[in-house]
Amino acid sequence: MKIRAATTADSDAIWKIFHEVVAVGDTYALDPHLSREEALGYWFEADTQTYVAEDAGRAVGTYILRPNQSGGGSHVANAAFMVAPDARGHGIGRAMGEHCLKEARRLGFRAIQFNFVVSTNESAIRLWKQLGFKIVGTLPDAFRHPEKGYVDVYVMYRSLLP
Ligand SMILES: CC(C)(COP(=O)(O)OP(=O)(O)OC[C@H]1O[C@@H](n2cnc3c(N)ncnc32)[C@H](O)[C@@H]1OP(=O)(O)O)[C@@H](O)C(=O)NCCC(=O)NCCS
Repeated sequence: MKIRAATTADSDAIWKIFHEVVAVGDTYALDPHLSREEALGYWFEADTQTYVAEDAGRAVGTYILRPNQSGGGSHVANAAFMVAPDARGHGIGRAMGEHCLKEARRLGFRAIQFNFVVSTNESAIRLWKQLGFKIVGTLPDAFRHPEKGYVDVYVMYRSLLP
């Protein structure tokens, strides 16, 4: 498996993964009916580094890395990760997470903040904790889960300083 910068040639593969993740509506506060154009616009926004994880020529995961805020907050990165449903549990998320930590350091960020980790997303929370992230805040009932109703959301943070 290889992780590399995405290009517009990856658009179809990224849209497939994005759509599969967002349509379920249980992990991201994004409109499940977002169009392909809107989704790719978001994933390839200016100031955003976009990556794909490729296995045997197939894009099985994608992530983005960008400043979480502008101006005085731009030294803290934000990232978002998506693995194709049929490729989960094989270490792709972890590999992208580790790659992200290296890339964020290389780009000069001093920390990474996840703004919106849905508290029911156990696999993600477990992975982020293993990669050194801590829950620094809880937003009560901030997400409307399609099956579980209103659930808490975590803000997770990890310093990149030595
Ligand atoms: C979260 C996500 C990126 C993880 O990717 P993945 O490729 O399945 O993860 P990995 O195979 O690398 O597993 C990494 C760790 O995640 C956790 N994990 C993975 N699948 C799990 C499961 N079914 N139950 C509990 N923990 C799980 C484990 O801690 C695992 O490490 P371990 O096997 O050493 O214990 C992926 O599930 C995904 O894309 N989910 C939908 C989108 C999303 O939730 N993104 C993150 C938003 S914050």
